[in-house]
Amino acid sequence: MKAETNVQSQPQAIQIRNLRIDPPLLLAPMAGLTHSAMRRIMIGFGGVGLLSTEMLSAKRLPTENPRISPYLIRTDRENPLSYQLLTSSDSEIARAIDALHALKADAVDLNMGCPSTAVGRFGAGVVLMDQPDRVRRIVAEARKRTALSLSAKIRLGSDPDSGRLKEFCTMLENEGVDMLTVHARFRHEPFARNPRWTYIAEIKECMKIPVIANGGVFSTEDAEKCLRVSGADGLMLGRGAVTRPWLFAEIARTVLGRDIPERAVSLPDVYAAFVEALNADYRPIYRLGRLKEFTHYFSRNYKFGHSLATRVQSSNSMEDAMERATAFFTKNSTSA
Ligand SMILES: Cc1cc2nc3c(=O)[nH]c(=O)nc-3n(C[C@H](O)[C@H](O)[C@H](O)COP(=O)(O)O)c2cc1C
Repeated sequence: MKAETNVQSQPQAIQIRNLRIDPPLLLAPMAGLTHSAMRRIMIGFGGVGLLSTEMLSAKRLPTENPRISPYLIRTDRENPLSYQLLTSSDSEIARAIDALHALKADAVDLNMGCPSTAVGRFGAGVVLMDQPDRVRRIVAEARKRTALSLSAKIRLGSDPDSGRLKEFCTMLENEGVDMLTVHARFRHEPFARNPRWTYIAEIKECMKIPVIANGGVFSTEDAEKCLRVSGADGLMLGRGAVTRPWLFAEIARTVLGRDIPERAVSLPDVYAAFVEALNADYRPIYRLGRLKEFTHYFSRNYKFGHSLATRVQSSNSMEDAMERATAFFTKNSTSA
C-alpha cells in the first residue's frame, strides 16, 4: 500500500536524455562529504534519485587516479551518479569531460554556486554568475562534448535582481543545460539565513527544463514546504542528508508517497558502517579528515552531540576516533 502523502501535486520522476531521476530527490555535491563512503550509507536507506560527487577541479581531474583518489572512488552500487565540475574556462572542459566519460559518469554538473573566496579567486563558482559570456562558452563547450545529462547548480546571484537572474537561467537553458539546481541564497548569504524558496518559483515560471530546489531542507516538513513554495520539480538535500542519511527515504515515503520500507535506524551502526567503508577503500591519509567532517553533522542527532564532535575532532587516528565514538554511544543511547 502506498503511504499517505501531504503535497497536493507531487513531483514525478525526472527523465533527461537517458537519465531517470526517480524519485526526484538529489544528493547535493559537498566537498569532503559526498564521497563514496557517504553515498553508500545513503543508498542503503533508499530514496535517492541521483547521487553526486563533490566539486572536482576540471583542470586536475584528468590526472587523478580513480582507483585511489578519494574524490573518485566509486562502487558499482552508486548509481546514478552525477559528477560536478569546477571550472573557470571552456578550455578545461574537453579533457575533463573525456575523463568523466572514462569514469562512466551518469551525468555532468557545472558548479556556478560555490561562494568560497579561494574558488572565486580562480574565477570559478558563484563569481561565474556575473560573467554570462564566459558561462555561455563553458556550457556550449560542455554541451558539444557530451550527450550525458548536463546540469548547472547556481545560487541566486550577487544581489536581488530577478530580471538578471532569469536572464542567466534562460541563457543556461538555451545553451543546452538539461536541468537547473538553485541553492536559494544570494552569493554572500550564510547558511544560517533562511533560504529564499520563493525565488525558485520565479525562476521556474520562465524555464522549460526541470528546476531543482536546494537549501534548508532538514525534515519531511521542510521538504513539503519547499516543494509547495517553490513549485520545484525535485529537491536537492545537502547537510540534512549527511546528518540523517535516511532523510531521502523519509521524504520519498511520506512526501512523495513512494513505497519504501521503513527501517529502524541504529546511529552507532550507521557510524560503524561509515568507518568500515573508509577503512576498506580509502588510503589511510584520506580517512580521518573525512570521518571528522561526517561526525560534525552526524553528531547533531544527539542532544549532547557537540561532545561526540569535539572528541572525534581531537582524535589523531581512526582507532582513537572510533574508541571515543563508541564510548560516547554507550553513554548516549538514542534512536533516530
Ligand atoms: C561542507 C560543504 C561543502 C560543500 N561543497 C559544495 C560543492 O562541492 N559543490 C557545490 O555545488 N556546493 C557545495 N556546497 C553547497 C551544497 O551543495 C548546498 O548547496 C548547500 O549546503 C545548501 O543545501 P543544504 O541546506 O541542503 O545543505 C557545500 C556545502 C557544504 C556545507
